[in-house]
Amino acid sequence: MKEQQLQETVDFLKENGITNPTIGIVLGTGLGKLIDEITIEKEIAYADIPNFPVATVEFHSGKLIYGTLSDKKVLVMSGRFHLYEGYSPWEVTYGIRTMHGLGIGNLLISNAAGAINLNYKKGDLMLIEDHINLQGSSPLAFKGAGAFGTIFADMLAPYSKEINTKLSEIAKAQNIKLHTGVYTSVLGPQLETRAEYRMLQILETDAVGMSTVPEVIVAKQLNLPCAAISVLTDECDPKNLQPVDISEIIAIAGKAEPKMIALFKEVIKVL
Ligand code: HPA
Repeated sequence: MKEQQLQETVDFLKENGITNPTIGIVLGTGLGKLIDEITIEKEIAYADIPNFPVATVEFHSGKLIYGTLSDKKVLVMSGRFHLYEGYSPWEVTYGIRTMHGLGIGNLLISNAAGAINLNYKKGDLMLIEDHINLQGSSPLAFKGAGAFGTIFADMLAPYSKEINTKLSEIAKAQNIKLHTGVYTSVLGPQLETRAEYRMLQILETDAVGMSTVPEVIVAKQLNLPCAAISVLTDECDPKNLQPVDISEIIAIAGKAEPKMIALFKEVIKVL
């Protein structure tokens, strides 16, 4: 039973000192340095957590970190699970359900994404205002999903307007360029064809990536306010398509990361 499985995980983490996190954070590919800013109380490898999926992608360290950031108790997933790694939608979002079970009241998500809107440049940040799910699956489509909340979760405002307003204000005050836009999730792991990039332009999407949407859908089922920021790591111009190098994506994510860290640190203060 999934509820029981999840309860075991939550109980284990509570017994191991993760008692009152208020904000959950998911760190995307190449975006792990926020943890250097945390006064860490507990660090638990995914592999040591009962029923937790185990991270596979080499550049993900795969651990749960609990500590204090900007005077708030935060719980950080350093390393996330992707559908393209072969995990099920339930596994991909298990960490979100776990953090919710531990009592977080807000969720912040980051990811690395490609810029479809060609006015947006690599190294820029984009606040996600809405999404398009092209992954062909839903994390709410399994037997018994109704036990966790409605499966017909409305998607009127999957991204919290309140948190987004705060993030926009902070960006302005700190002189950080923060675009806004629509994020489309694809399954991957292969990158997109020219024809697919043209399709994404027609769909008026601003950024494309392989994560985040399942997590946000689950957060919505759980009535957990969330916000997500994309770090744009490449420009997806179908007329001038360049070979994408995953190490370059990670390098660009790392360069833009301090801006994302600054935004998260500041918004945490006012959540
Ligand atoms: N597609 C294209 N470029 C990207 C992606 C993606 O999914 N993620 C990061 N850059």
